[in-house]
Amino acid sequence: MEFIDLKKQYERIKPRIQERINEVLRHGKFIMGPEVAELETRLASFVGAKYCVSCASGTDALLLSLMAHEVGPGDAVFTTPFTFIATAEVVCLLGATPVFVDIDPETYNIDPGKLRNTIEAVKSGSVRGAIEGKKLNPKGIIPVDLFGLPADYDEINRVAKGHGLFVLEDAAQSLGGSYKGKKVGNLADIAATSFFPAKPLGGYGDGGAVFTNDEAIGNRIRSLREHGKGSHKYDNVRIGINGRLDTLQAAILLPKLDIFESEIKDRQDVAARYSNALKGLVKVPHIPDGLSSAWAQYSVVTEKRECYLTKLKESGIPTAIYYPRPLHLQTAFGHLGYRPGDFPVAEQMSERIFSLPMHPYLDAGDQAKIIDALQKAHEGTRG
Ligand SMILES: Cc1ncc(COP(=O)(O)O)c(C=O)c1O
Repeated sequence: MEFIDLKKQYERIKPRIQERINEVLRHGKFIMGPEVAELETRLASFVGAKYCVSCASGTDALLLSLMAHEVGPGDAVFTTPFTFIATAEVVCLLGATPVFVDIDPETYNIDPGKLRNTIEAVKSGSVRGAIEGKKLNPKGIIPVDLFGLPADYDEINRVAKGHGLFVLEDAAQSLGGSYKGKKVGNLADIAATSFFPAKPLGGYGDGGAVFTNDEAIGNRIRSLREHGKGSHKYDNVRIGINGRLDTLQAAILLPKLDIFESEIKDRQDVAARYSNALKGLVKVPHIPDGLSSAWAQYSVVTEKRECYLTKLKESGIPTAIYYPRPLHLQTAFGHLGYRPGDFPVAEQMSERIFSLPMHPYLDAGDQAKIIDALQKAHEGTRG
C-alpha cells in the first residue's frame, strides 16, 4: 500500500501525459514553451484569480511573492510555526524576520486572535526572545492552509487591513479547496502554491505558481522569475532569480488539471469514510462550515500516537508525521531565540498528530484495512 499512489493516477491518464510530453519533445521549446502560458491561463480561471505566474517550486512562489512586496531587513512577517520550513525560510532568505504565532487547536491553522496580539506586541516592541527590543516593521502575514484546509481568511484579512499588512496565502497544500464559495488561491492579496509530486495537483518534479488580482504585482513576479528582466532578456531592471517552471512540467500538469476536480471529489469521499469510522477512536479533522479541504493529508490526533503507529507499521500501512518539530524549535531558527513552551498548541500537535494514506485512488478495501488496524490499535490502548 502506498501513502500517496501516483502510479494509479498515471495509469488513468497515461496516453494524454505521453502525448503532451511528446509534443514538447517535438517543438523543443523547453524553457517558457507554449504549455507554460496555457497552464497559467487554465489555472487562473480554475482559481478565479486574474493572474497566475508559474514558477520553479512552491518555495520560489513564496519567495517571489515576498520579493514583489519588497520584503527585506527590518521587516517582520507573521506566520505559523506548524508548517513546512519553506514558509518561514523564504522570510529569512530576504533578511527579514519571521515572527511566529500559535495555531488554532481545531484547525491547526494560524490563530487570528493571537495574530492580532502578536502584531500589536511587535508594534509596541514587547515581543520575547532574540527579537525582544528590536525595532521591526510589521509587513505581511503568511497563513498556511495546512493539510489542505484554508486558514480563517475573513479574520486574517481584517487584522491585516487594520495594520496595513499584505496577506500571502501559503496554498502549497490546499489548491482545490475552498473558503465560503471562493477557491483557494483567491482568498488573500496573493497566493503561492506547489506542484511538488505529492501535492493535490503535483507534477513529475518541482513546480509552483503565484496567483494575484494585482496587475503590477503579477508583472513584477514575471520579471523577478526571469532574473529581473525588463523589456527583453538582456534588459535587467531588478535583481531576480531563475525561477521558471519547465515546459515539460507544464505539459504534465495540463492533463492532470483535466481530472483535478474529480480527484478532489474522490479525496472528499476518502476523508468522509475515514472520519465516519475513526471519530470515536482519535481526533479527526475539523472542517469549519463553509470551508472545504483539498485533503493533501488526512491527519488525526491522539495522546497514544506510538501505539497507533506501531500497529499500523505491523500491518504494513505507511504513515507520516507532519510535523514532528515546530519551526520555532528548529536549529535553523535558533537565532530567533524561541524556547519550548512558546507555542504550546503547535508543540502539543507535533507530539500527537500523524497522517494516514490519502489519495484519490485509495480503494475501499485498502481503506477498510487501515481502519481495521486503527480499531485494533485502539483496543490495545484500552487494554
Ligand atoms: C506549506 C508548504 N509551504 C511551502 C512548500 C514548498 O513547496 P515546494 O516543495 O514546491 O518548494 C511546501 C511543500 O512541501 C509546503 O507544504
